[in-house]
Amino acid sequence: MQRNECNGCPLASKAVYGYGNERAPVMLIGEAPGEREVASGIPFVGKAGKELDGLLKRAGIDRESLYITNVVKCRPPGNRKPKKDEIARCLPLLKEEIRMVKPGIIALLGSTAIESFLGKMSLDKYHGTFVDHFFISYHPSMAFYGKREIMAKDFEKLAMAERALRAEKRLLLLDYDGTLVPITKNPEDAVLREKGKEILKRLKDEVIIVTGRSMRSIKSVLDLDLPVVANHGFEFYRVKEPEERFDQYRETVKRLYEHFNGMKTKGVVVEDKTFGIALHYRNADEGEFFDEFRRMLEGLDLDNMHIEYGKKIVEFRPDEGWNKGKVVQFLLSENSCLCIYIGDDNSDEPAFEAVGDRGITIAVGRRETKARYLFKDHEEVLSFLSILAGGEYDIL
Ligand code: URA
Repeated sequence: MQRNECNGCPLASKAVYGYGNERAPVMLIGEAPGEREVASGIPFVGKAGKELDGLLKRAGIDRESLYITNVVKCRPPGNRKPKKDEIARCLPLLKEEIRMVKPGIIALLGSTAIESFLGKMSLDKYHGTFVDHFFISYHPSMAFYGKREIMAKDFEKLAMAERALRAEKRLLLLDYDGTLVPITKNPEDAVLREKGKEILKRLKDEVIIVTGRSMRSIKSVLDLDLPVVANHGFEFYRVKEPEERFDQYRETVKRLYEHFNGMKTKGVVVEDKTFGIALHYRNADEGEFFDEFRRMLEGLDLDNMHIEYGKKIVEFRPDEGWNKGKVVQFLLSENSCLCIYIGDDNSDEPAFEAVGDRGITIAVGRRETKARYLFKDHEEVLSFLSILAGGEYDIL
């Protein structure tokens, strides 16, 4: 690599530059070299480096596949933290490394690396998450201070992203509400904003939206030309059979809609989804809603419909119908690629099961789930998707 001239900060001495695969999908950035690193000219070969090796090995990441570097290239006396001015003067060298390697993900390890790009953030809160183009975790030396197991989990997530980046062909199945947009007070306000739209446009050949909303409803908040499977699979651009078979349920849907539309609990919205009905209670008192709901259910003939409980929503859906698990099975039978399913709702659980070991399953903001990985919120989803979409780093 062509090195820029050092900008002559007070640390300037024997510099240790980044090392590894100059086409790496993942770049790791630590703080500064220590004594062993200066002696060998390679980052992370001392005590913290051994910890890093252990974490990479556990996560199944090959060290040789990575590019590993530090925020500052010269050793601060006594291994103290580099100062602001030292970081600022060394940053052009790091940016040059990023421009050269063009990594898909940059993992910032520890507060010095994080603060150099993102400002102050609580590591206890954000470790193991994707933020913009970055993945955040503790510095490997924190393994000595009780963070080893936490970091091992973080590195599993990093390995997942590396796998997703390396895949030749991907199928991204994305739920909408709570996954790409926050859950809003009114469903019609959950409009995908410009940033999300830009990311999805770049991924348009890989993405299918899989939502419980009706087609009409999802189109009103997602103004993009993407394939959409709506109504839990009842409105499926590829499969007409569920719609065709729906006639037998029409009467029941109408009857249930009229029955529940008379609900007294304030804030409840009763939606005719054509292929079922939904009771939205996110703006209602939950106790009051369920009291009234149970009373209204007594003696009610559901015919060939059943009840499903989602996030602040109760739905009546046809018994033999589709669910997101069946949608996934269908799509996987047509595609041989790495399937990544991201969702936040109970109705995504059958989809997680259907993907199983054939792909990557990510639950958003859930704890009790069959998904293999957890994301904090829709912002983390968008950060992850922007990593998959590639593109320029705005930090350069
Ligand atoms: N700690 C770092 O941050 N970098 C190294 O290269 C070694 C230890």
